[in-house]
Amino acid sequence: MCGIIGYTGINEAVKKVTKGLEILEYRGYDSVGICACSNGKLEIAKAKGRVSELKRILSGEPRENVLCAIGHTRWATHGAPSYVNAHPHRVGRTCLVHNGIIENYKEIKSRLEGEGVNFVSDTDTEVGCGLINYYYEKTKDPYNAILSASAEMKGSYALAIMLEDEENTIYAIRQGSPLIIAKGKDGFYLASDLTALIPFTKEYYSLNEGELVRLSKNEAIIYQGGEPEWKITDMSFEASKKGGYDHFMLKEMYEQPKAIKGSLTSRIVNGLPDFSSDGLDKSFFEKIKEIHIVACGSAMHAGLVAACLIEKSALVPTSVYIASEYRYNPPITREGTLVIVVSQSGETADSLASLRHAKERGLTTLGIVNAVETTIAREADFRAYTYAGPEIAVATTKGYATQVSLLGLFAICLAYNKGEIDEKNAKALTECLFFEAPAVMENVLIRRAQLKEIAKQIYERDDIFYIGRGIDYAMSQEASLKLKEISYIHSQAYAAGELKHGTISLIEDGTPVIAIATQEALFDKMDSNIKEVRARGAKTILICHEKMQNTEGCADIVFKLPKSSYLGNIFSSLMTVQLIAYETALLRECDIDKPKNLAKSVTVE
Ligand code: G6P
Repeated sequence: MCGIIGYTGINEAVKKVTKGLEILEYRGYDSVGICACSNGKLEIAKAKGRVSELKRILSGEPRENVLCAIGHTRWATHGAPSYVNAHPHRVGRTCLVHNGIIENYKEIKSRLEGEGVNFVSDTDTEVGCGLINYYYEKTKDPYNAILSASAEMKGSYALAIMLEDEENTIYAIRQGSPLIIAKGKDGFYLASDLTALIPFTKEYYSLNEGELVRLSKNEAIIYQGGEPEWKITDMSFEASKKGGYDHFMLKEMYEQPKAIKGSLTSRIVNGLPDFSSDGLDKSFFEKIKEIHIVACGSAMHAGLVAACLIEKSALVPTSVYIASEYRYNPPITREGTLVIVVSQSGETADSLASLRHAKERGLTTLGIVNAVETTIAREADFRAYTYAGPEIAVATTKGYATQVSLLGLFAICLAYNKGEIDEKNAKALTECLFFEAPAVMENVLIRRAQLKEIAKQIYERDDIFYIGRGIDYAMSQEASLKLKEISYIHSQAYAAGELKHGTISLIEDGTPVIAIATQEALFDKMDSNIKEVRARGAKTILICHEKMQNTEGCADIVFKLPKSSYLGNIFSSLMTVQLIAYETALLRECDIDKPKNLAKSVTVE
């Protein structure tokens, strides 16, 4: 949520910062700006809209000599997207970019206004800038000014700050929002996340909470002392390119079979699940009496699927919580409760707060995270990475698929260690997950044209319903979210038996109802539910297991999933609904990779 970047070094600061901003756009893209140090002066350029607009504004002006710059791409919280609210903000001799929210900005603002400081925007950020500048004018000591302001600001922030008095220098501090610094051959960088820095260098350091750093051409100094412990990432720049696909989302869907294998492979030993490389040994699993899965958005939906699998195979009571609810309305827990926080980005504010809350309550925590070295991964007692690689499209696909597959393997491991399934069964399930899940996804990808035909049937509608039972209901929720977030069609997921308790009144002639039916034992029930809506005019689309009989008369359109076990069905139905969402959004000419109003990494409450 908002991306910040900075560079100070030997050349082309504007070019580097704008390139980084393009990569960071998935964190927000309603306005953009840059501050460059030019001949000892701070110069700001900003625009409402995207980085391309900023580049247009910057084109034509020679900027090769600029050696230091900071940039920002915004997802508006305080104040509408506009030129004046765009970052960088400047007060006096201080200029900064910010990711996060300064919660007590109103009281700070009125105090500073009382002291004669003038603000022009609606943002909390400008107030933070004003506060640092206020202390800086008093002390002329940047460290003192930033730390004094930081002590007063409540909320979350990652700040990159430039002062007119210190040429080619960037100060940066983080509290609650992510911030990475990196060391290149050509100078030093900072960014909200590592992907934006990969084109320039692989040597990075994640700032700890409260750490203040000063970057100049030759050095990175942490105010609190100590050298940054530089690490090397194995992320490649190629992985964050579109690679010939029309959209990142499409590329990432095609990457899913490989990503699933990549997530599981190191955790299968002699055909059995084995999480010992993540520090989760037999005794860890044996102690688990209850599980809370806490997450937001699609990660929470991955938890819903996982809960079905865990309860089915390991018989461990498992509840799934929306992180923003969990943190303020925590459920009663008991000894042996494991809290699993699922997060692709590893930085989602509510998920992180829930993790911290669970730790304060003395509960054991496990982070299922994709982005390495992120705050949730670092703060959880245990972490298991999903290894999906960088996910650029705002709507998650491979991130979700790898979360489900890893949690599926976790469920098998738990069931085996608890003695609920024997070795033969555990091996068979592990094999299904590892071989069948990727294979059935490939099968659905080959049949993409059929799903395009389904999209043609629904793309002009205003409302769509997904229905399913049990694990198919969990999948319906992700299906519905995927469709609405990228196509902007209103879509809702319902437990198939529940639709008639009110919502069926919304079914009109031609309203699409997409039913997911992968469980043999529930075919007849689903058949009845489809008939109920069909009788009221719905256009019915059935996504079902190949064993389901007499489907021709059952629904208007039938898409049969490839033959597979119940574990494989999860992944074939997932690929099916993702492609329906993609093809529908394509027909509606939506901005698929950057849907309106969304951001990929939500680092504010
Ligand atoms: C945002 C994204 C979703 C994602 C959710 C949780 O809303 O748009 O795709 O599922 O955040 O993100 P996380 O990084 O914690 O998985």
